[in-house]
Amino acid sequence: MRIDVVTIFPGYLDALDLSLVGKARRDGLLDLRVHDLRDWTTDRHRTVDDTPFGGGAGMVMRPDVWGRALDDVLGRTGGGDPAGRQVLLVPTPSGERLTQRTVEDLATVDQLVLACGRYEGIDARVAEHYADAGVEVREFSLGDYVLNGGEVAALVVVEAVARLLPGVVGNPQSLVEESHGAAGLLEYPVYTKPPAWAGREVPEILLSGHHGNIARWRRDLALERTAERRPDMVGTLDPADLDRRDRAV
Ligand code: ADE
Repeated sequence: MRIDVVTIFPGYLDALDLSLVGKARRDGLLDLRVHDLRDWTTDRHRTVDDTPFGGGAGMVMRPDVWGRALDDVLGRTGGGDPAGRQVLLVPTPSGERLTQRTVEDLATVDQLVLACGRYEGIDARVAEHYADAGVEVREFSLGDYVLNGGEVAALVVVEAVARLLPGVVGNPQSLVEESHGAAGLLEYPVYTKPPAWAGREVPEILLSGHHGNIARWRRDLALERTAERRPDMVGTLDPADLDRRDRAV
């Protein structure tokens, strides 16, 4: 998969050289390219923003600069047809909420382009223009809070998508049981050695070696945790699916 991130702060994305994503890049599983938006400016001051039409506070990012950058990155400058499915992702607090389901879908595309806005955001014509040109455009939000720009959201998407690419996570089973996985539950609590610490014992059942009982105990705790911490998720659970999973235990 290819991912391009366009930003005025390329240094923000340096963390993507580390850990699993860094290794995926070095192993050739992920072709990640970070670009400085100012490389597409044409004036001496390398200007990327201007005052908003209609007035108001702050600055808005210029569509002409973004247009040149995105045409290049999406391969739309030479006139040829770009190969494969391309998705343009625009992080913004006014976007739709990013979920694991969306991330799973994004992990199947050929090219993801993340356009990191700053200030009051990117001129609205940019998203419209690329949607009209046949690019899937998704404006997304990490949650109901405001960040200074899209870079942190880009880090989140790259990490969440990269770990779903084949070969990136060593044991694919660890992707199956985690929070927000197929069962729609938060993950159960986990324990390791030592069996007693600070006067607290690891739950006895986990030392029993009885896999069926352990699986049922974990399912109960996952349900309890989900009901307590994310009551909004309980409504979306499918009782028939939970029953099927129980029978498989
Ligand atoms: N940019 C600023 N705030 C954001 C948020 N909550 N999610 C995604 N991008 C953002």
